[in-house]
Amino acid sequence: MTRYARTFAALLAPVVGKPVEEVLSGIGKPPKPELGHFAYACFPLAKERKTAPPKIAAEIAEAVAASMDGGGALRDVKAVGPYVNVFVDGRTAAREILPDALTRGADFGCSQQGGGAAVPVDFSSPNIAKPFGIHHLRSTVIGHALVRMLAAAGYRPIGINHIGDWGTQFGQLLAIWEMEGDEERLRSEGIHYLLELYVDFNKRLEDQPELRDVARERFRRLESGDAECRRLWSLFREASLAEFNRVYALLGIAFDDTKGESFYEDLMAPVLEELAAKDLLRESEDATLVELGDEDLGTALVKKRDGSTLYLTRDLAAADYRWRTYHFDRALYVVGGAQSLHFAQMKRVLELLGREWHERVIHTPFGMMRFTDRKMSTRKGDIIYLEEVLERAVELARETIEAGTRDKDRGLPDDLDTCAHRIGVGAVVFNDLKNRRVRDVTFNWDDVLNFEGETGPYLQYTAARIASMGDKLGRPITAQVDFATLDGPGETQLLLAIDGLEAALLRGVEASEPSYVADQLLEIAQRFSTLYARRDWKVISADDGLSDARMLLATATRQALLNGLGWLGIEVPDRM
Ligand code: ARG
Repeated sequence: MTRYARTFAALLAPVVGKPVEEVLSGIGKPPKPELGHFAYACFPLAKERKTAPPKIAAEIAEAVAASMDGGGALRDVKAVGPYVNVFVDGRTAAREILPDALTRGADFGCSQQGGGAAVPVDFSSPNIAKPFGIHHLRSTVIGHALVRMLAAAGYRPIGINHIGDWGTQFGQLLAIWEMEGDEERLRSEGIHYLLELYVDFNKRLEDQPELRDVARERFRRLESGDAECRRLWSLFREASLAEFNRVYALLGIAFDDTKGESFYEDLMAPVLEELAAKDLLRESEDATLVELGDEDLGTALVKKRDGSTLYLTRDLAAADYRWRTYHFDRALYVVGGAQSLHFAQMKRVLELLGREWHERVIHTPFGMMRFTDRKMSTRKGDIIYLEEVLERAVELARETIEAGTRDKDRGLPDDLDTCAHRIGVGAVVFNDLKNRRVRDVTFNWDDVLNFEGETGPYLQYTAARIASMGDKLGRPITAQVDFATLDGPGETQLLLAIDGLEAALLRGVEASEPSYVADQLLEIAQRFSTLYARRDWKVISADDGLSDARMLLATATRQALLNGLGWLGIEVPDRM
């Protein structure tokens, strides 16, 4: 919510005899703004005092009204059924919020709350020799947004790409490579060729089940440092990273730390030794495992019979490494819900090892991505390549811009490429982030790129349009305006939405939920659009004073959109 919810809570606290924070959690928004901007629900109090809620509401409203000095930001406290409602004074809100937005600029809505605490965010983390599919998009986009949101909230996020470059699948690749590997094709076709090899391996497996053992043996060779195996593995790795990096460049994403699982090779032995020393290991028929003492968690495999290590073992070593390196406040793992058991096991093993920080390890899962458009599945069947989706989005954005300028008989923007890129990529990213993280996302081209729905292009367009108004105004934007001209109900609602950006950020960081920011941005844009759609409301008119005031309001709107979109990892074209 906004600073005024807090002001209201501070007024209520002495009257109801509760701490401000507790009162604040009971404040919400009335269903209609005509009823008030904030409402305090009296149900819990009524229960405690065994009195009817409306009666208590009336008493509280009266007492609060008596304690208000009249000149503050709040006015018209009254009981509405079981609620105590209040209005924000529009003129005061404009005077307090708008100059702040103008002077703080890119810093508007940011907070120091994190106090510089370190938060490693493990995200994207694709697997070598497997295509960067659309299912990795969610982790990449959500993780990137969380990194930026944490930074805006005053934390020190560390974006970590935990590349899957180790494991039995490399044994399979090495095995099939001996039969049909072609370095020339690897160089020219990269990851697509590696995928073909995978498919071939599995095809051959049908007639030659013994290949499974060959693969296992090859991975063991790789783990024991065989030079040729290592050389080939490096080639696969390079080919894959080249593709991943192209996708990251398209998305404008950089990591603070990219380490493959292979990095933890030498760090696994100490963990295994410690597990043994603490008597936590048990030998089974074909593996070494940790008994977790919890039926739901089962047992955790940490080593196979042939001595090769597992995903979990590497994650344990990586967690220790991250703790030693960062002493984190919390460590996020933005990984699909399918790996919930893996992370629950990992946390439990850390707990058994006596890592007092195990509670700070947080699996941050998300739902699946579903495509409604068959056309997007590529030649190779079911796999949808992220790079192709992003390129297609940019292409569609370009077509839309070209069609739009044709219709309006305008010239194309000078930087058509940048513009199409930001809109296309922004559309795909926002479509993902506007949903609650754990929900499944549907991907449908028409919805994603719609300039009018709840989309990235809609928000970008709103911001760009305001920039054009600034051009049209033709004089500097000033905070020296008559705030009384901005106290209509529509303006006040917009102001409160703008002022709510910081709270949305903090709630979003707390819950690792970028959609809270997305929701707030949509509300800001919609409130602005509602004003703008009114026949009697123009930003620029013959009245200079009024134009300056409205331009200031519009500029704060744009600043809030730019900042919030930036936290989500979305860039805005200057003009559209
Ligand atoms: N490479 C894994 C996958 O694509 C995700 C790794 C997530 N990070 C981690 N520390 N386990 O499924």
